[in-house]
Amino acid sequence: MRYPSILMVCGALTFMLAGCTTNEQVEPKEPTTQSSTIDEPETEPNGPTSDREDETVTESPSEEGTSDESEQPAEPVEEPVAPSQPIETDGVANLELDELILVNKKIALPADYQPSDLVEPNIDFVDSTVGERRMLRKEAAQAIEGLMKGAKAAGIDLKGTSAFRSYAYQVNLFNAYVERDGKEQAMKYSAPPGHSEHQTGLAIDVSSASVNYQLTQSFGETVEGKWLEDHAHEYGFIIRYQKAFEEETGYMYEPWHLRYIGIEHAKKVHALNQPYDRYIAEFLK
Ligand code: DAL
Ligand code: ZN
Repeated sequence: MRYPSILMVCGALTFMLAGCTTNEQVEPKEPTTQSSTIDEPETEPNGPTSDREDETVTESPSEEGTSDESEQPAEPVEEPVAPSQPIETDGVANLELDELILVNKKIALPADYQPSDLVEPNIDFVDSTVGERRMLRKEAAQAIEGLMKGAKAAGIDLKGTSAFRSYAYQVNLFNAYVERDGKEQAMKYSAPPGHSEHQTGLAIDVSSASVNYQLTQSFGETVEGKWLEDHAHEYGFIIRYQKAFEEETGYMYEPWHLRYIGIEHAKKVHALNQPYDRYIAEFLK
């Protein structure tokens, strides 16, 4: 069943009626049935501070052609071959790109798209996040489990706040934001239905106790946010909406929004420090 439940609709209404008590909001928490949910604050936080210049893109070296017995010339080390596929057709995302799928302001998923391999990762979520909003595509779910383990080992506390969102859920969410802040403002932090990476099952928002598990830009300045900035790519995730990319992506800085693209590509995107939109366009060119 992919239609909004009564609870969701009520949640959205509760959220709208609650309104915002400050004009410092960026992206409010999703409408939930819990009236104690706190909207996120912050307006103009600092961008990520990590220095990436010491990062290198790791390529696996080839051992071939080193044997004395071989009379064959050494095989050249090859870059991964880009699948020769379009990113989109008439503004509709190419689903064949699998974990490399691109959705953004101009490229949307079909309204009826829902990944077939959604599973719930074995990680901590905030209590208000329930049901399919805890789910991710299988590969991304395994990857976030690895990331959370790595974080825990480093003394970093993180919880998931929102993973998969259906088209129908995004309709309610986006409409509630438009109702609250107006469309122009809402468009800066919330994707219209069909345009959200959360519908791909490859995106998850995470936060920490240090910011009361809110989706606030100041999360990027916490030790947890900085750890993500430095390590998410090692597990196949990128921080999709960076401060420096705001004009190019059309979205405000979201230090909490992780997008799974696989380790190889995540390492490259991190090292290049490019918006994913630009990276994938170049890769598939
Ligand atoms: N907050 C991001 C842009 C989304 O709604 O998918
Ligand atoms: Zn998100």
